[in-house]
Amino acid sequence: MSEIILTGDRPTGKLHLGHYVGSIKSRLKIQNAGNYDEFYIMIADAQALTDNFANPKKVRDNVLEVVLLYLACGIDPNKVTIFIQSEVPALTELTFYYMNLVTVARLHRNPTVKSEVKFRGFEESIPVGFLNYPVSQTADITAFKATTVPVGDDQLPMLEQAREIVHSFNRIYGDVLVSPKEVLPELKNAQRLPGIDGKAKMSKSLGNCIYLDDSEEEIRKKVMQMYTDPDHIKVSDPGKVEGNVVFTYLDVFCNNEHFPKYLPEYKNLDELKAHYQKGGLGDVTIKKFLINILEEVIKPIRDKRRELLNNLDYVYEVIKNGTEKANAKANATLKEVKKAMGINYFEDTKFLEEIKDKFKEE
Ligand code: TRP
Repeated sequence: MSEIILTGDRPTGKLHLGHYVGSIKSRLKIQNAGNYDEFYIMIADAQALTDNFANPKKVRDNVLEVVLLYLACGIDPNKVTIFIQSEVPALTELTFYYMNLVTVARLHRNPTVKSEVKFRGFEESIPVGFLNYPVSQTADITAFKATTVPVGDDQLPMLEQAREIVHSFNRIYGDVLVSPKEVLPELKNAQRLPGIDGKAKMSKSLGNCIYLDDSEEEIRKKVMQMYTDPDHIKVSDPGKVEGNVVFTYLDVFCNNEHFPKYLPEYKNLDELKAHYQKGGLGDVTIKKFLINILEEVIKPIRDKRRELLNNLDYVYEVIKNGTEKANAKANATLKEVKKAMGINYFEDTKFLEEIKDKFKEE
């Protein structure tokens, strides 16, 4: 069986380091290894509208912004098809048919939907479109016959629902859809990069992000504000490494080669941690070290983004061509789905014959 990869992002803001660690890095790894037949990355604007329907400008404004950062990070449009969800109408049509295969109670039980409903204060009045987005996401995945879906752990309930829908569809209408499996990002440290304030997640609304196009000055300012150990007051005090955001980031981004370049007094992160825990190592030293490392990660992305900004026509072409390719694939699947369901009247030469035969008996 061929290996088809599909993943997506909601275009609701600029991409930040959390995205880089949580998804972009593993996408680049997959792309560069090249062990796949097709690889799609979808800009999930229609899904973003399910909770931003009253703020369409936010979605519109971020579509190209997200593509720009994908390309700046090194996603190669010759190896990966990047497309816009709302411009692939087959996805909406598939969603409509899959909706018959899911109960409202099942949607209410989806843990991710549940916590998002709470977070957005939708409890008393959940929009149908929002409740239904796991079904729409199943359409995204199955339209491309995706076998593999790289996602964060919050998306596991979506994949579970997708498999249930695939199962029901194939049982009732015949074997058309492919059951997807997820791949979770492999991370050295936590599944999620915390915000600079130590909160569990980097999020635009919490104002605790480092963006992939932040200037060196912005990086410096943010790292200097980072949450460390509130009990580490004097340099001589022993400090805690657990829950200390600077060390969490160092765990993710630092390697041994960074030491001779930026902090030659230490050989590796273990030595640095041991000194911090013992006392005698100040926050400013570890923060300066982290600033150098993050600048090394972000500078090439920021520079490439600048370069692409001068060539937005190219970025627009990339997304337009990608969407055209996506439409071809999704339309082919929709055709199979409609055939399996027997609602392909004008494609099916037997349809008229059958009806004629049936009316002959009258
Ligand atoms: N729900 C995903 C998110 O919020 C985005 C998404 C939409 C997606 N459709 C998808 C992810 C299909 C993987 C496959 O991040």
